[in-house]
Amino acid sequence: MSFPLNRPANIAVFASGRGSNLESILNAFPQGNDLARVCLVMSDKPNAGALQKATDNKIAVHHFPFPARKKDSSGKGREAFEHQAQKQLELMKIDLICLAGFMRLFSADFNSRWQGKMLNIHPSLLPDFKGLHPQRQALQAGVTQTGCTVHFVDAGIDTGPIVLQRTVSVLAEDDEVTLSARILKEEHLAYPEAIKLLLSGKARAKGLQETAQ
Ligand code: GRF
Repeated sequence: MSFPLNRPANIAVFASGRGSNLESILNAFPQGNDLARVCLVMSDKPNAGALQKATDNKIAVHHFPFPARKKDSSGKGREAFEHQAQKQLELMKIDLICLAGFMRLFSADFNSRWQGKMLNIHPSLLPDFKGLHPQRQALQAGVTQTGCTVHFVDAGIDTGPIVLQRTVSVLAEDDEVTLSARILKEEHLAYPEAIKLLLSGKARAKGLQETAQ
């Protein structure tokens, strides 16, 4: 399967938190549009705001625990999550996964199964400030510009091919809260735009790394 499809794409959004990016995707692809529909929201957190937003919008939700790596040295917890997720994804005939504030890392196996069909959003201009607290990292580095990136997911952390970026100026008076809020506004534009690019066949997963984590 490759994009464009000759029918609306079925999207699953994975989110661990409040779900504002989910909301921007839902607003960009309302019921009945030709390009995409969000069919499933998956979370590792039963009380994620994203799940409530999905329920309010009559979208199927599924949550399953996904322990942090340090509490899951055998990897069994991740394996169980991925098994559950894959079952739901197949059941709902999902074409594209959008990670939106999903705070867990998948196995190389899951990543390669979804290669070219899984996007992530990260609040920095990658390759700068990968990983946790990218807005804090930007402030500490003293950069004058940062932003957000939508990229394909590969085997690394925030390393996959970039679909698009939006830039935000860092102001002298910024702290982590104000900067994060300004970047978030751009995220809400960037994610739908990147999805449109991909689904219309204008973004391709060139150069995806095959290396295992
Ligand atoms: C966003 O800043 C996203 O870039 C990051 O986590 C945050 C999620 O926010 N990965 P929300 O849950 O979409 O509101």
